[in-house]
Amino acid sequence: MADNVVWHEGRVTREQRHRATGGPGATIWLTGLSGSGKSTIAASVEEALIAEGRAAYRLDGDNIRHGLNADLGFSAEDRAENVRRIGEVARLFADAGVVVLVPVISPYRSDRDTVRQRHVEAGLPFIEVFVDTPLEVCEARDPKGLYAKARAGEITGFTGVDDPYEPPLDPELSIDTTVTSPDEATSLILSLLPR
Ligand code: ADX
Repeated sequence: MADNVVWHEGRVTREQRHRATGGPGATIWLTGLSGSGKSTIAASVEEALIAEGRAAYRLDGDNIRHGLNADLGFSAEDRAENVRRIGEVARLFADAGVVVLVPVISPYRSDRDTVRQRHVEAGLPFIEVFVDTPLEVCEARDPKGLYAKARAGEITGFTGVDDPYEPPLDPELSIDTTVTSPDEATSLILSLLPR
């Protein structure tokens, strides 16, 4: 951390912010392979929350890599930094009273656990959702054609093909999209949210 930098307190409490945003903030972190359905579920939860008057916003890994994280690739170090930055932004949003949906592969357990710890320190809910769709299914879906490219050797270091994915050991929720629909997944996630 930078030296000679002092935290500046504002004049608005978290409770006052919650009244302005329709409820308490939280981070819903969706981890899983590419093509597992993370982004679809995140979009559905966001839509449901906005419909009921809650502040909600998605921080999608693919989208954030177009801006804030456009300087990062897919090495272990860059993925760690990707997750760290998105985790810090999510923490700020959650503190602001927004329910943040975060669909990112986030393949390394320790990187996700660090984000969880940062939320615990701030007294903010961190809900880890493992979108546990089997690799064969993700690969058969291949919505962006990236598994085909990875198998052909046109992309190296692709998660699940020739790069690791470490599943969560104790997630708040696991969803197998081969048996659970996006609507069902949305209801399950909404039931875990603080009101
Ligand atoms: S993470 O591993 O750093 O958490 P993130 O969720 O931000 O990944 O981005 C993953 C997206 O980048 C995938 O949905 C896919 O479209 C694209 N992508 C491009 N190259 C790779 C790769 N080598 N491994 C995984 N995803 C990749």
